Amino acid sequence: MTTSSQHTPVLLHEALEALNVQTDGTYVDCTFGRGGHSRALLDRLHAGGRVIALDRDLAAVSAGRDIVDERFTIVHASFADLRRVLEAVSPAPVDGVLLDLGMSSPQLEEAERGFSFRRDGPLDMRMDTSQGETAAEWLASAEERDIREVIGRYGEERFAKSIATAIVAARARGPVASTQQLAAIVAAAVRTREAHQDPATRTFQALRIYINQELAQLSLVLPQALDVLRPRGRLAVISFHSLEDRIVKQFMRTQAQRDRLPPGVPVRDRELPPAKMRVVGKPVRPSEQEVTLNPRARSAVLRVAERQ
Ligand SMILES: C[S@@+](CC[C@H](N)C(=O)[O-])C[C@H]1O[C@@H](n2cnc3c(N)ncnc32)[C@H](O)[C@@H]1O
Repeated sequence: MTTSSQHTPVLLHEALEALNVQTDGTYVDCTFGRGGHSRALLDRLHAGGRVIALDRDLAAVSAGRDIVDERFTIVHASFADLRRVLEAVSPAPVDGVLLDLGMSSPQLEEAERGFSFRRDGPLDMRMDTSQGETAAEWLASAEERDIREVIGRYGEERFAKSIATAIVAARARGPVASTQQLAAIVAAAVRTREAHQDPATRTFQALRIYINQELAQLSLVLPQALDVLRPRGRLAVISFHSLEDRIVKQFMRTQAQRDRLPPGVPVRDRELPPAKMRVVGKPVRPSEQEVTLNPRARSAVLRVAERQ
């Protein structure tokens, strides 16, 4: 049973295999969470190995400080600052970079973080509570068309227009400040319900992605991960929804192609610089057994690429 301070790592064995761990290598865990992947990496490393972990959540960083191991370093930072963090902590090229995207179980389960429509709490939704606007603050002043755009785009929600209108009508009566208040507004605005899904699921996903700029951060970290890898170093990314996975897939495919020159430029293919990465294997999904044991793994997909 997972309690609020625990997180069951997803695709743990598969991610470690994907990283092709070298026992004296240096690995970056960009999403420490509660350290499932970091600890498993440390278990595989010898004395010369190193794990550098990042998380933008202060509670995650504090959990990381419990790991007393001279091979381990944790930094409170966004992975969008990966290059800068590594320049300060470990400037040499690294052997692997792991991203396990999305939220940790403690983030989801602790009511005061405001991520869950199942628990009543302040509508916060920031992964990094030390900075930025909360979901409640944003909803209090955003234009209706921007609310609609965010819910439609990041939630892939058909009823984005009705939901945005309902939020704007509700806030005219008083602040929309709690998770259950928002869930009730959404439930009243959504006309048909998807089987096995709460009507607020898509709206909460959308707001969380927007408030944390999750897709922009992902687009920023991928080229930095490529830059910091040594040749044959591996990038492994676990994503949890199609919007993220599309960015990862596109990035890896593009890096695995040689640069294209405009037609007519008199250069032969073999004279072009080689591709920067090689896609390793097919996307990996969790086994049925893993999904049974940990339903959160259901939508996970792991993609891997190697620097050439
Ligand atoms: C799914 S959890 C990782 C779980 C971890 N692999 C484990 O086994 O415990 C995702 C973590 O990534 C962190 N995170 C998400 N976006 C981030 C970003 N842009 N920069 C740094 N950390 C981020 C979240 O705060 C969360 O703790």
